Parts: sequence; C-alpha cells; structure tokens
Amino acid sequence: MERVCEPELMEGLAQAQAYGAADFRATDQALVERLAELLGPACQDQPLRIVDLGCGPGNISFRLVDRFPQAQVLGLDGAAAMLDLAVQGLERYPHGRHRLTFRSAVLPLAPGLVESLAGGVGAGFGVVVSNSLLHHLHEPQVLWRTVRQLALPGALVLMRDLRRPANGGAVRQLVQRHASGASELLQRDFSLSLQAAFTLAEVQAQLRQASLPHLEVKELDDRYLEVAGWLS
Ligand SMILES: C[S@@+](CC[C@H](N)C(=O)[O-])C[C@H]1O[C@@H](n2cnc3c(N)ncnc32)[C@H](O)[C@@H]1O
Repeated sequence: MERVCEPELMEGLAQAQAYGAADFRATDQALVERLAELLGPACQDQPLRIVDLGCGPGNISFRLVDRFPQAQVLGLDGAAAMLDLAVQGLERYPHGRHRLTFRSAVLPLAPGLVESLAGGVGAGFGVVVSNSLLHHLHEPQVLWRTVRQLALPGALVLMRDLRRPANGGAVRQLVQRHASGASELLQRDFSLSLQAAFTLAEVQAQLRQASLPHLEVKELDDRYLEVAGWLS
C-alpha cells in the first residue's frame, strides 16, 4: 500500500494524554534491553551520553536512566503537549532528575540548536536512540541528518519503529491483534501510524542515501523495524 503521512508533531492534548497513558512497557523495555545488549557488559560503568529523539512523554528516556546508572540522557521532542507530560514525570522522579533533561526541539534542528544540544563544538552523544519517530517524519532524511549532527564518531544508533503493512486488511488485523482493548483514539492513531510507516526496503534505501552503511535494518515480529549499528 502507498504511504499516507500523518501529522509530524503529536500536539493535541487528548492525543498526548492517551498516548502517555497507554501501556507500552513491554516494547519500551525491550528497546532498552536491546541497547544494553549492543553496548555490552561494560555499559553499566561507562559514562554514556544518550539522546532520545522524539521522546514523547519520556517513557523510554526514564527507562534509559534506570537501566544505565552512569548515563546522562537528553529527551527531545517538538510537541509541547508531550514534553509537558515528560516534565511532569520528571517531577515524580527525584532520583533520576540530575541525569535526565527534556528539551523542546523540532527536527530538522535549527543550526544554532545543534551545538547547544550537543554540548558545544565537537561535542555530541555516544548513543542515539529513537522509538516511533521515523514514521512521523514527512521527509525521512531529516532523521538521518539529525543522527549525523548529534552523534559522535563511533556512536551507537538504535531506532525502532513500525513498518507499513502490505494492505488495508493487514492494517486492520494488526489493530485488532494489538489494540482491540485500547481506546478508539489510540486505535485510530495506531492505524494511521501503520499507514505512515516505512517498509524495510524503504529504510534500506534511506540509509544508502544518507551514506550510513554501518546501520543495519531488520524486521522484528509482526509490526516493527529495527535500525542498529555504530557510526564510522
Ligand atoms: C509516537 S511518539 C513516540 C514517543 C516515544 N519515543 C515513545 O516511544 O513512546 C512520536 C513523537 O515524535 C514527536 N515528533 C514527531 N515529529 C517530530 C519532529 N519533526 N521533531 C520533533 N519531534 C517530533 C511527536 O511529537 C511525538 O511525541
């Protein structure tokens, strides 16, 4: 089926609240554990700087702080409604507060913002993470350019997102299988997100165009793609 873009930013209050209240614990933790696997056992003691692109209400960012005790985590999102939820979460999270920051940033990043987020000229992040952001972007190269702008040489990149099913029937099946108990709003958002997502072949082409040959993309279970690898 053809890709149908959805709005990039999740700015609606009801939409953000429904998303923030949804239970993504299993897939969120799976991403964090996959990151730990890629980083290896030394990750517990390494002073990592991690950026979480399109962090939404911060559900992954909080887990990163918990999982990696030496990490500084920066969550970026362009939607005020989502960032408000993330900042509220931070208030209930005193033990992670000094290692976790949320900032408003719309991709593509304005030139002056890149340095300020990276922490200065030549600075950057050793790990770039993103979950369910790529399918929101109308122009996917925006994500890969942002990776290049914020990542240090040799940085680890880990992204997960939905992949687009073959047809409308497959979209309906996935919504039924994974969201039949969710609210109408969440079911609608899930359906639109599946239709806005990219296929494996499309993401492979994006990575070639972005000259990111060390990043590999693969399909996970019935609905996700994972992109992972170390930059040169
Ligand atoms: C589906 S949510 C994912 C949130 C979180 N990463 C998670 O896994 O639960 C996608 C997020 O990306 C943000 N987003 C979409 N396009 C963006 C852009 N161009 N710049 C910054 N944030 C963007 C949206 O506002 C939304 O919060």
